[in-house]
Amino acid sequence: ATPSISIDTDRVLSEIKPEIYSGFTEHMGRCIYGGLYDPGNSLSDENGFRKDVIEVFQELKTPVVRYPGGNFVATYHWYEGVGPKENRPARPELAWDGVEMNTFGTDEFMKWCKVVGTEPYLALNMGTGTLDEALGWVEYCNSDKNTYWANMRRKNGHEKPYNVKYWALGNEVYGEWQVAAMTKEDYAKKAYQWAKALKLLDPSITLILCGETGYSDWDRYVLQECIKWTDMHSIHIYTSDKEHLPNASAPLSAERSIEIVAAYIDQARIQAKCKTRPTICFDEWNIWDPIRAPGDKGAEELYTVSDMLAMAVWCNVFIRQSKWLGMTNIAQNINVIAPVMTTPRGLIKQTIYFPYFLFTNYMRGNTLGTHLRCGTYDGRTQPDWIETTMDTPWLDVSASLYEGKVGLAVANIHPEKAFDVEIKGLPEGAEVDVYYVTGENLTDVNTEEKQTVGIKESKWTSKAKYTFPKHSFTLLRWKA
Ligand code: AHR
Repeated sequence: ATPSISIDTDRVLSEIKPEIYSGFTEHMGRCIYGGLYDPGNSLSDENGFRKDVIEVFQELKTPVVRYPGGNFVATYHWYEGVGPKENRPARPELAWDGVEMNTFGTDEFMKWCKVVGTEPYLALNMGTGTLDEALGWVEYCNSDKNTYWANMRRKNGHEKPYNVKYWALGNEVYGEWQVAAMTKEDYAKKAYQWAKALKLLDPSITLILCGETGYSDWDRYVLQECIKWTDMHSIHIYTSDKEHLPNASAPLSAERSIEIVAAYIDQARIQAKCKTRPTICFDEWNIWDPIRAPGDKGAEELYTVSDMLAMAVWCNVFIRQSKWLGMTNIAQNINVIAPVMTTPRGLIKQTIYFPYFLFTNYMRGNTLGTHLRCGTYDGRTQPDWIETTMDTPWLDVSASLYEGKVGLAVANIHPEKAFDVEIKGLPEGAEVDVYYVTGENLTDVNTEEKQTVGIKESKWTSKAKYTFPKHSFTLLRWKA
């Protein structure tokens, strides 16, 4: 049968929340220091913030940025990172085997968010941190009362509260690699009590419960115990494989994990007779092979064209599953497993940057239902359970309706074959904007010396079929 994609603009499925294009910056490797914060560099402003990095966050229209970790947060004491810099202590950093100088802390991050035009999302230390300390941080950031930590903020030169909305109840607390990891029973008990106290202090905050992958029993259990206090449920997945097809199709595991955890959320709500519906906060996702780019060496991944296609599939998953997603945070934005790398001289946009940019700018509004007909890939997948759980079509597709335009995002993951596709729902003769990303070889990368992967823009007057070339990502946009 002829390959086809059917789109119906009447089949509006769900809203694509702008927060699905949120970011994550951790005190890890060169993400903060030497990344977004680089005092003394001629590319930085008077605050020490890299101006070229700020522009990247702005061009990606990043609505929320998570901070300061990640695993880093499990030993982080926020109060050591505020006040006069000469009084801030240097501390051993246990997650990534570094030293934390504390010269960039809460007030610097709040200032940076303001300059960028984004909202902060803070993760609480549930490793070595106490509830008192967590309450102190919320008070420091959000309180307008005449109390100790709110006055400390004023003394540090910040009269008005920052009104930080998003707060995470720990990070990956289930993981053996975590300082002070917990069992699901211990975490649920602790998170319940912390949530209650934090909401007493500031009922307006959005609390994010620490989930795992979405398909684990940890997720099911902590939701069951803490649903009452959960505004969002966090999950993390990183994908990768040495071979192209398992690598490019691996993000499909995230699609199933969203569906599974959405069901866990409903089950917990129904049992607890909970009227509100927590959303999923996919607050760490990306392509990462921790052997290729180890965390304690800064996790500086060098992304290929195969990874670029995996990125397109990741984003398609989020568009298709937008109904359940309150937020997603690419992990991370700068230098550490990131689409953008800094050098002392400027920026390198990696292969994965380009589909991500196209999604953040154009795949907004509402998700449209599509029907796809093309062959499927039947080989090895990563993880292997994808094989028996869902199809892996050669074309990975999502569609949106935004500002009166249809956006059709198509990743052709086939290493050799182009597909001539009939697009049902695209009127013949329509003027179509075409954005196209590929590379000569699946292993091509962008480096400081040579940047061959980027976006090619053109116009197309629609005809019977569109050809999606081998290993490429294409975004088509036309008036609805
Ligand atoms: O983003 C890198 C690390 O990956 C984070 O610190 C941690 O939460 C995850 O394991």
